[in-house]
Amino acid sequence: MKNQDKKYNTFQVQAPSNIAFVKYWGKHGRQLPMNPSLSMTLSSCKTVTQFEYAWGADSLDHSQTLFEGDHSLSFHARLNRFLCSITDLYPELDQLSLKISSHNTFPHSAGIASSASAYGAIGLGLARIISEKRGRDFDIYQEASIIARLGSGSASRSIKGPFVRWGIDDQNKGSDHFAQAISSVHSSFNKLYDCILLVDSSEKSVSSSAGHELMNKHAFKDSRNKQANEHFQALLIAMESGDFEAFGEILEAEALTLHALMMSSNPSYILLHPNSLEIIARVRMFRGETHTPLYFTIDAGPNIHLIYPESAKLAAENFINSELRSFCVADCLFDHAGSGAIINE
Ligand code: DP6
Repeated sequence: MKNQDKKYNTFQVQAPSNIAFVKYWGKHGRQLPMNPSLSMTLSSCKTVTQFEYAWGADSLDHSQTLFEGDHSLSFHARLNRFLCSITDLYPELDQLSLKISSHNTFPHSAGIASSASAYGAIGLGLARIISEKRGRDFDIYQEASIIARLGSGSASRSIKGPFVRWGIDDQNKGSDHFAQAISSVHSSFNKLYDCILLVDSSEKSVSSSAGHELMNKHAFKDSRNKQANEHFQALLIAMESGDFEAFGEILEAEALTLHALMMSSNPSYILLHPNSLEIIARVRMFRGETHTPLYFTIDAGPNIHLIYPESAKLAAENFINSELRSFCVADCLFDHAGSGAIINE
């Protein structure tokens, strides 16, 4: 059947970005994490993806992809590699003509990892389509997290919200294959904010995938694994009991450990910027002087995420606006905990 004769169905998926509190760093097998991680799903920073699909193709046809309204070669090439890599698990894809158009609500220059929300949206969209061919036992949201993970590990955590875990922990709980929402969280965490400070928006010198790879032979691999498990359990307890100080200390330790692992990799590399360190110093000084519960975390890049509860919103945002904006290259992005990916039919 010619493409123009086919009847295409359409729907839209929205998937949020997420910020890790305990970091996924290092992998094994087929995109499985070396250690358990825990993240907060964001609300405003998300990817909106339009799917058009028709069954009856002779082989998977996804020649039409748009990223921010344009034919992006790099987006198309990565998507192509990804789709080809999962047809053994989802052979239905081979009968599919697929058009995908993806757009982020946050600027590309924001330096926020867009692969989590992009692959979260692709994962949920594909799971929704594949569910038409599978029986009732097909759990769309669990399968979405599996597909998203195969595209980008952290994307597995962009399906549910507001707090999500991924990876088997040292008590044998959780799954390496898909992420799950955490239910027992103290009410003081009900409204948690994330202000993203954009210190540098240029392309990273070393990708996250390359960084994960360097963990395989890292001198601190085993001790990192042990520490990540300890942080993970301690964070669950802090979030359940509402201990914001313990929570914040783990957040900062995780961020600095992630960057210490990069600095002590072979070859070594540094993604922090002098202004990242300046902001860290000022946040710690502000906290010491005012006792405002404002803590930082950092992903694989120089930008700083500041996390604070509702009770600290006014003081934290006044401080950010008056003292930290001058260390940023663009307006800060004010976001908060959100509820996960959705399908709009
Ligand atoms: C530092 O999920 O981007 O953000 O699986 O290779 O796509 P790939 O890596 P990616 O790694 C994210 C690492 C991190 C920590 C985290 O989000 O847990």
